[in-house]
Amino acid sequence: MTKIDITETTRDDIPGLQAVLEATGLFPPELLPDFLEPVLTGDSPALWRTGWVDGTPAGLVFTEPEPMTDGTWNMRALGVVPGHQGRGLGRALVAAVEDDLASAGQRILIVDTSGTADFAGARAFYAALGYDEEARIRDFWAEGDDKVVFRKALEALPPVHRRRSGGAQGGLARAVRLARLASTQVGGHPDGAQASERCGRVPEVG
Ligand SMILES: CC(C)(COP(=O)(O)OP(=O)(O)OC[C@H]1O[C@@H](n2cnc3c(N)ncnc32)[C@H](O)[C@@H]1OP(=O)(O)O)[C@@H](O)C(=O)NCCC(=O)NCCS
Repeated sequence: MTKIDITETTRDDIPGLQAVLEATGLFPPELLPDFLEPVLTGDSPALWRTGWVDGTPAGLVFTEPEPMTDGTWNMRALGVVPGHQGRGLGRALVAAVEDDLASAGQRILIVDTSGTADFAGARAFYAALGYDEEARIRDFWAEGDDKVVFRKALEALPPVHRRRSGGAQGGLARAVRLARLASTQVGGHPDGAQASERCGRVPEVG
């Protein structure tokens, strides 16, 4: 039987996650070490989780606080390798960050996606996970490519949903403190990332 695990991303996961990035095309794999470094050293509030199938990395999720908000997080990247899609790993990755954020008193998780046909599967996925289509900005990304914002209120999650995913809580309290700091800095973000990036398109490191 297939075994799915979700863990806090560590330095050791980098080669496996670079293979995931290669397979999903989320963003160039060579950017991963630079994105992860401030997270691993505790200087960024972002949360990265590795999804494993039978002991091999097969997916990832990355979320970070929205600057100048109180308790609102944006899921910047989510991907599962094609060979393992449709078997619950994406759902497990999102549930893990929802649980961690809800347990830490964070309020809202949003995801910026696209209105194009290419993203119909992603939109159906978020709807299946209880996300509401909250906003749509026509032609935002490009002519004919709307920005579609999905939203889920973490406070509304039932307590059973808030079970701890094993070993993934480390550093979260610090992440929340950094998030609060970021929320007080105009235009500020501890690792220099830019807002308004579509899920799967990770912003340039500043
Ligand atoms: C979107 C993605 C992360 C989903 O991961 P996954 O492991 O395949 O999804 P799951 O198996 O956990 O599916 C969870 C639910 O979403 C639904 N779902 C997933 N993909 C779907 C699709 N393409 N169309 C319709 N529904 C879909 C499933 O039916 C499932 O519902 P159920 O549990 O009620 O049966 C994955 O397909 C992926 O990596 N896609 C490419 C990258 C991408 O689009 N990322 C998101 C960018 S915003």
